[in-house]
Amino acid sequence: MLTVHAVTRRYGNDPALEGIDLAFENGVYGLLAPNGAGKTTLLKMLAGLLPPSEGEILYEGESIAALDEKYRMRLGYLPQRFGYYPNDTPRKYMQYLAAIKGMGRKEALERSELLLEAVALGEVKRKKMKTFSGGMIQRVGIAQALLNDPRVLILDEPTGGLDPKERARFRSLLTKLGRERIVILSTHVVSDVESAANEIVLLKNGRVFAKDKPEAICAMLAGKVYETRVSDHEVDTFRQNYPILAERGEAEGWHMRFVAEAESAMPHWELMKPGLEDVFLYVYRDGERQTAKQRLFPGELAGVREEGVQI
Ligand SMILES: Nc1ncnc2c1ncn2[C@@H]1O[C@H](COP(=O)(O)OP(=O)(O)OP(=O)(O)O)[C@@H](O)[C@H]1O
Ligand SMILES: [Mg+2]
Repeated sequence: MLTVHAVTRRYGNDPALEGIDLAFENGVYGLLAPNGAGKTTLLKMLAGLLPPSEGEILYEGESIAALDEKYRMRLGYLPQRFGYYPNDTPRKYMQYLAAIKGMGRKEALERSELLLEAVALGEVKRKKMKTFSGGMIQRVGIAQALLNDPRVLILDEPTGGLDPKERARFRSLLTKLGRERIVILSTHVVSDVESAANEIVLLKNGRVFAKDKPEAICAMLAGKVYETRVSDHEVDTFRQNYPILAERGEAEGWHMRFVAEAESAMPHWELMKPGLEDVFLYVYRDGERQTAKQRLFPGELAGVREEGVQI
């Protein structure tokens, strides 16, 4: 188990993250938040690369700072941007990293062949990486993070640059990996984690806004997501009155997906099942009002464990 206790991280005087408490067991965790929310900061701290300003991170009850090398042996990490020599082949790159991790030659070779196959790079393993697409490079990054068969796998935006087919393959790889280790990945692409993650962590205003199963996170908007058609002359007022999740211009007016209180629903509105994307768009909407909490979520917020978080 990996636990985060009352962790705060400041850059200068500004707290990027504040009072973070989290616990991770085997399974896949999707850290979902917009740009600048502190995903990389949290993942770097979980990887032991950035010390918390306050609080501590424990692996199996011991501080990761004290475990140091012992923790690193159990850790696989894919940074948001990783460095490689463009003239290297994936095979050579993997061998090089395996040597740094102290693996023997034979083990390193076997393991890297296996992993390059697993990320579907077997056929190009002898090609120079400078000829690779962004998605192929990203797959090399995923393979290298798995070299030491880590118990804790941390992936910072692993799906950047992957096409839909590669994303689907990546999701099934994640599910397999999460059976016997802790996998924590960050993304702002909702579909990456909607089906593959056992739990979703949402960060907001430097704090944990929610940590729960995808269904429970979606249930935050249960009974509040509607769709309807709005005419051209009504659409501006409509946009001012309701948080909009999606809109589509049509020959006759607009098709809107939006959030509203059940009590104020009009009979012709169609009630929709909320998805994770709806929650993401709603929680991180622009120009949100402080009063939105009372207006849209009177009382307790299902799935939200943090007290006093303004949405
Ligand atoms: N080295 C640093 N020095 C100063 N401020 C930093 C540093 N790294 C991050 N920050 C700030 O901390 C906040 C969180 O950044 P972080 O990179 O953790 O966000 P993120 O969620 O990973 O964003 P992205 O989706 O763009 O990768 C941002 O406001 C960022 O400007
Ligand atoms: Mg980041």
